Amino acid sequence: MATQPKEPGTYNPWIDQRTGIGDRRKGIAESPLRAVLDEAIPGGASLAYVFGSGLLYLFLSQVVTGMFLALYYVPSADHAHTTVAYLTKEVTSGSFLRSVHAYGSSAIVIVLLLHVSQTFLYGAYKGRRKLLWLAGCVLFALMLGMSFTGYLLPWDQKAYFATTVGTNILTYIPVIGSPLKSLLRGGAEMGTLTLSRFFVLHVFLLPALIVIFIAAHIFLFRKAGPAGPIQGDPQTLKRSTEPFYPKQAVFDLLFALVIIGCLGLLAHYLPVALGPKANPSDTHYVPRPEWYYIPVFQWLKYWESGFAVVGILVIPAFAALLFTALPFLDRRPERRPWKRPVSMSIYGFIFIGLGALGGISHRNDLRDPAIAAQLAKQQADVAAFIKKPFEPELAGVSPFAAMPLSPVASQGKKVFERERCIECHGEDLSGTPSAPSLLGVGQKHDASRLRSILQQPSDAMADGGMQPVDVNEEDLTALIAFLESLK
Ligand code: HEC
Repeated sequence: MATQPKEPGTYNPWIDQRTGIGDRRKGIAESPLRAVLDEAIPGGASLAYVFGSGLLYLFLSQVVTGMFLALYYVPSADHAHTTVAYLTKEVTSGSFLRSVHAYGSSAIVIVLLLHVSQTFLYGAYKGRRKLLWLAGCVLFALMLGMSFTGYLLPWDQKAYFATTVGTNILTYIPVIGSPLKSLLRGGAEMGTLTLSRFFVLHVFLLPALIVIFIAAHIFLFRKAGPAGPIQGDPQTLKRSTEPFYPKQAVFDLLFALVIIGCLGLLAHYLPVALGPKANPSDTHYVPRPEWYYIPVFQWLKYWESGFAVVGILVIPAFAALLFTALPFLDRRPERRPWKRPVSMSIYGFIFIGLGALGGISHRNDLRDPAIAAQLAKQQADVAAFIKKPFEPELAGVSPFAAMPLSPVASQGKKVFERERCIECHGEDLSGTPSAPSLLGVGQKHDASRLRSILQQPSDAMADGGMQPVDVNEEDLTALIAFLESLK
């Protein structure tokens, strides 16, 4: 029941006089606030209607947290992982923010399933709401695209290998599959181009489409009007119609608060982990996708051998088509679930099927000792990595690669590379198990000392396998100048 404002027909006379924003006496076009708040809900406000606005809230939360993450993120194979590690380990509340964003994406999937289930149970896709349903299906697909592209961005082992599997699925599409995969990856292999493509999709293209389709979805919803309860005679429904504000608005706000509470608690007590940096040469890694993709992942396994196209392409595409076309296939006005046994059974069957596939995947992982051991190792690696203090990036800016050198020293650097000194002293000169670091060696030995140990290695060096340097005088001088510059 709407509360009576002090002056009938207005929210705030001072503001209304100047903007007309809440003036009930004006038409809807002139009074946008009225148009939003006075939406009539047949049968009255209900907790069952909170999921749509919950999704809107979650989307806004993803936009805001995502903007903060983007302040630190660099979408390149060299730096992505380091910047996420920096954000997670060093930046104040960085880990919390990243966790809210990551859990937010799971929350969207959960609330989306609740929203779709409510729509389905209430038969709310029927009648004038066909286009509304179609816009919703597009949003569903866009959300899946967001979670797929977002998963890669941290560029840790899990992200890299799960996305490798994910993009490989495309090759099952005849003719255009492989070109499509190359287009998405920006080449045959996953690398910086893949990351920047996924980044652009995740941050610009998909969100822009989502905003457009959310607008369309809400517009079509307001045109069609709320579906209201599943039964009841029109007279009683009319009498119990209620405006959106205040009761439904309060329900929606309460649900948003529940979401905020859950995300906040999870992010605080169970922060999202980050694994070691992606290592494409690791052949043992067992990839597992995000939990909501696990049933799909298990389903694909059954089809890997024969009939791959059928299982991986035809059946899912057919299912998606059926889902999208639902309001066109099921045209009876009947909305009571117990009078729609066929729809209900299919819906139940799909949910039970997805749950079962998830369960089977989990059980298989536990049963196979090799896989269970590898998964446990991966988990331990992640735990160890997240505990380690943040290490700034050395590879790209190694003193060896980036140090400004005099012409003669850079000539010496070439000799150093040619003579394979790197093999023992390490690519970034920081040493390997077979030889010590050479960083700072210019401080330790002067030029003449360096000359003598290079020409006549000490016993320890000889024991370590270091041969006397055998190059012409010019190269030797240059090599010494290079070592001298390592201060
Ligand atoms: C087969 C492995 C190997 C190769 C190849 C090698 N070194 Fe060494 N180098 C060693 C070992 C081992 C030591 C240290 C021995 C010790 O003192 O314990 C060493 C020590 C040195 C030192 C002295 C470091 C110090 O702190 O005193 C210098 C200088 C050096 N190497 C330069 C070179 C240069 C220049 C090359 C290429 C021409 C080269 N090394 C190639 C194994 C190698």
